[in-house]
Amino acid sequence: MDGPPRRGYQSADMASRPFATLDELDVDNRRVLVRVDFNVPLTKDRRVRDDTRIRAALPTLRMLRERGAKLVVCSHLGRPKGAPDPALSMEPVGARLAELLEVEVKLADEVVGDGVTKLVTDARAGEVVLLENLRFHPGETKNDAKLSQALAALCDAYVCDAFGACHRAHASVVGVPELVHDKAAGLLLQAELVALSRLVDAPARPFVAIVGGAKVSDKLGVLLALVERLAAGDTVIIGGAMANTFLAAQGRELGASLMERDRTSDANTVLTKAAARDIHVVLPTDLRVGRGIEATEARVHHLEDGPLATDEMALDIGPATTERCEAAVAKAAMLLWNGPMGLFENPAFAEGTLAVARAVAACKGFTVVGGGDSVAAVQQSGVADRIDHVSTGGGASLEFIEGKTLPGVAALRKDD
Ligand code: 3PG
Repeated sequence: MDGPPRRGYQSADMASRPFATLDELDVDNRRVLVRVDFNVPLTKDRRVRDDTRIRAALPTLRMLRERGAKLVVCSHLGRPKGAPDPALSMEPVGARLAELLEVEVKLADEVVGDGVTKLVTDARAGEVVLLENLRFHPGETKNDAKLSQALAALCDAYVCDAFGACHRAHASVVGVPELVHDKAAGLLLQAELVALSRLVDAPARPFVAIVGGAKVSDKLGVLLALVERLAAGDTVIIGGAMANTFLAAQGRELGASLMERDRTSDANTVLTKAAARDIHVVLPTDLRVGRGIEATEARVHHLEDGPLATDEMALDIGPATTERCEAAVAKAAMLLWNGPMGLFENPAFAEGTLAVARAVAACKGFTVVGGGDSVAAVQQSGVADRIDHVSTGGGASLEFIEGKTLPGVAALRKDD
């Protein structure tokens, strides 16, 4: 991509990579703290709804076990406010991990404390301890020194395989590796960096970026950076609540649709920059709308026909927009998709997202899909194995593409 040289890790640096890899780490009979991103969606009855992120970390966990490590696995789950929340306990995640690894996983009942220390001290080679949700501790998101020290005291070596959390400067991601001398990147983290670096370092054109979903504020900055890095003839497809914000910026009245009105000027900036650089922007011209997110029927609304009713919500792209997306995707030499086109969890509003998933799978270019919801959409469409790289990172993959140094990767830098 165009733009300033990247400051962070680049695939071309593989030979002179700034961090150690697993094979360089002595783990035999040693306690290894493995930071993973097991922030997975749960069902209402608290089972793991999509285990992609857990499966993605298995090669690292298996390799460490085979080499005699005592595993202390840790992750966040959701966004508890620095205090225990039974609905976000790691218990269902531990149960799924045990099934997949086919070993017992001992769940600690807190993040750090005497009980945890005893569990870890008593662990034998090959055994697996899973800490409770890191964000139950108020120090995690604050990168608190005391929590980092307490976590570092649980281990002899540290492995980061939490690509999806590497954009967060939190205690388990940044504070701990800064304190532990023996540290390495896990296999998943390495694979993610190699695949995503390809998009950044050697972009093939036309490059198509599809950005959707509901986290408008998080992603507008990324879109702004993307339009500066893309080149003439590239395409940005905008869907989901993100598209609603752009349509509102253009003066469309979208009833009760989800959007962020205070970001409409940023949306306009994206459009102005894209136009100046000859980057195509695909925005919805028609929508599937419903009366609330539980609606069981969709009405196709053409934007040229005027405003939505005040109680209607735009919940998916319409058929004409879907066709325009499919046409742009078919031409992509390289493609990045992050964020669904609508509320695809509701079958009445799934068509746009699932059609995009099928189109991405059929695309002959190099394709990368990131973000929990888009990954779930490619799984739901049964096409995940036809995507070149399914990234476990949502925000992390976007920040990497944007050219930012990920704090979790920087913290793995080898000590002098
Ligand atoms: C993600 O789901 O993108 C990561 O697990 C990070 O989660 P967060 O946005 O709550 O920090």
